[in-house]
Amino acid sequence: MTLRHFLRDDDLTPAEQRKVLDLAMAFREDRFVRQPLAGPRAVAFITDKPTLRTQVSFAAGIAELGGFPLSVDGNLAQIGVRESIADTTRVLDRQVAAIVWRTYADERLQEMAATSRVPVVNALTDGFHPCQVLADLLTIAQHRGGVGGIKGQTLAYVGDCANNMANSYLLGGATAGLHVRLGGPASFLPDETVVAQAADIAAVTGGSVTITSDPVAAVTGADAIATDTWVSMGDEAQSIERETPFVPFRLDTALLSHAKPDAIVLHCLPAYRGKEITAEVIDGPQSVVFDEAENRLHAQKALLTWLLERRQR
Ligand code: NVA
Repeated sequence: MTLRHFLRDDDLTPAEQRKVLDLAMAFREDRFVRQPLAGPRAVAFITDKPTLRTQVSFAAGIAELGGFPLSVDGNLAQIGVRESIADTTRVLDRQVAAIVWRTYADERLQEMAATSRVPVVNALTDGFHPCQVLADLLTIAQHRGGVGGIKGQTLAYVGDCANNMANSYLLGGATAGLHVRLGGPASFLPDETVVAQAADIAAVTGGSVTITSDPVAAVTGADAIATDTWVSMGDEAQSIERETPFVPFRLDTALLSHAKPDAIVLHCLPAYRGKEITAEVIDGPQSVVFDEAENRLHAQKALLTWLLERRQR
């Protein structure tokens, strides 16, 4: 079967995403249900940006799959500076079963995938964070009676709608048949190309995509509410300008009260209490952010298993 990569959420079709989520549910039940890396075979985890959850969940997950998590510090490797992306990939893909990379521009990851003979996985880029959205979908499944409970739910995301999480909610949420609503300041809305791509997917899955600059309209009646930092990695130089426009989109109890009474609260973390979310909400009864963090482990193990098993056939 053909080599597949996971660079963006829409690299999985709706049926494929469903299979990955079903397998992730199986990993939630039994951490050792499959061991496609038995050997152990190594998987490279490279990071050019800060990380905690992503590194831990990939390292633990690769180990639980029977493999060896090989950490590569992007600051030491200096991929694309000290050595070209293509040469780096040619060295890695002879020795590892898959490459997981957190980096800046999406073009860097695309270049690696174009060269690699093993699956390449996006562990966050400036454009997308698709592993996080798989974990978020799994968290919705966990709290809504299983993977079958995802489709038709309304997920509202408020805050920086021009960042990687917003793009991934659009594509990954539409793929899952969610009604995805994004609420953010007019100057921080998603790229129209991604919105159009998500709308095309939603037309097939029965989901929908709504973009608004009205925070209350975004969250009213929603089943799940998500937010993220106003200052993503790489945006630090703009941290002052990135405060005032977002204040009306802060997820506090007043905004949350417009969602369904049993709505769950998601945040990919790290969270800045008092900025994009209040302590009362993130530490409150509707918050499932630590289930969500744990679900990175199960979702990524399922994704790696799916990618590796396709490769072996
Ligand atoms: N949008 C955030 C997500 C962190 C997991 C960032 O890119 O920094």
